Amino acid sequence: MPDKPIAVFGGTGFLGDAIVRELVETGRAVRIAARHPALPAWAEEGDLIELATADLRDEASVNAALAGASAAINAVSLYVETRELSFEAIHVAGAGRLARLARAADIARLVQVSGIGVSPDSPSAYVRARARGETAVLDAMPKAIIVRPSVLFGPHDAFLSGLEGLTRLPVIPLFGRGMTRLQPVHVHDVARAIAQLTGRHASPRCLFELGGPEVMSYREILETLLAHLERSRPLVPLPFLAWRLIAALAHRLPGAPLTLDQVILMQADNVADEDVGGFRDLKILPHSLRESLPNCLPRASIRD
Ligand SMILES: NC(=O)c1ccc[n+]([C@@H]2O[C@H](COP(=O)([O-])OP(=O)(O)OC[C@H]3O[C@@H](n4cnc5c(N)ncnc54)[C@H](OP(=O)(O)O)[C@@H]3O)[C@@H](O)[C@H]2O)c1
Repeated sequence: MPDKPIAVFGGTGFLGDAIVRELVETGRAVRIAARHPALPAWAEEGDLIELATADLRDEASVNAALAGASAAINAVSLYVETRELSFEAIHVAGAGRLARLARAADIARLVQVSGIGVSPDSPSAYVRARARGETAVLDAMPKAIIVRPSVLFGPHDAFLSGLEGLTRLPVIPLFGRGMTRLQPVHVHDVARAIAQLTGRHASPRCLFELGGPEVMSYREILETLLAHLERSRPLVPLPFLAWRLIAALAHRLPGAPLTLDQVILMQADNVADEDVGGFRDLKILPHSLRESLPNCLPRASIRD
């Protein structure tokens, strides 16, 4: 009998695609569930990949995408609200719906991807919604596993390519003094961890915070990137109040290049808590940003 597939909601996204790849490469059957599902560019004939059109806001489509699955992963994102899409609908109601339907379908394992720093008291509507989403998932399925990564990097990511764009400016404005501490984590390491957590011998832990091997300040990350790109630019502190004003204006531009939620997130450290599950529990040695830069952002591929 063929293996039951693992349903990866958001399986076409940055993290979702890496999870699908990790599962396929370890011989598992996968169902990619998204509003516009598509086979990955790297897929080969014979790969055990099914596609399901599903919207977390739509009960019937989520149910259909879960039918016959052995496990489910929620890697759906929404970073900027629109008239049609709210944080509440995706991160709270949608996440809760997926958990409730997975439990009703007797699916034993569910991994909910969230983020470090979620809090119901945050000044950010996004961060509050993520916290309420975790609660909605655990209310519906107490055995669900919550995975909170720090900022993700990898080939073709938004993080490093966004910073690379900044290094083209004559001066680089810092968030405050650039002292916020981050723990950039390779998307493939997080994908490996999540793939393991859907397996038979998953860890008994139910909350994971995943950060890379190095905690770096925002300033240090930029300095490392500038050295890799062999560019030299002054780094100029800019108070968070100024960033809030910029975000209020930028929010209205097409594609919302900077949001208030992003500014609020940059005001707090984003570092994994040592007291919850981590890579060490899964025996994964994560890759550092420094060692991964040549592969993620090859010098030869960058126009000067
Ligand atoms: N990127 C990071 O640095 C980072 C850091 C920490 C945590 N995370 C978390 O990791 C998760 C994945 O983030 P990402 O950056 O990989 O996201 P992403 O690249 O923006 O991908 C989002 C995925 O969600 C799907 N999707 C969006 N709305 C949907 C809906 N209503 N119903 C079903 N699918 C929907 C998209 O496909 P369609 O548009 O076709 O539906 C796509 O497959 C999120 O929970 C995010 O908060 C990310």
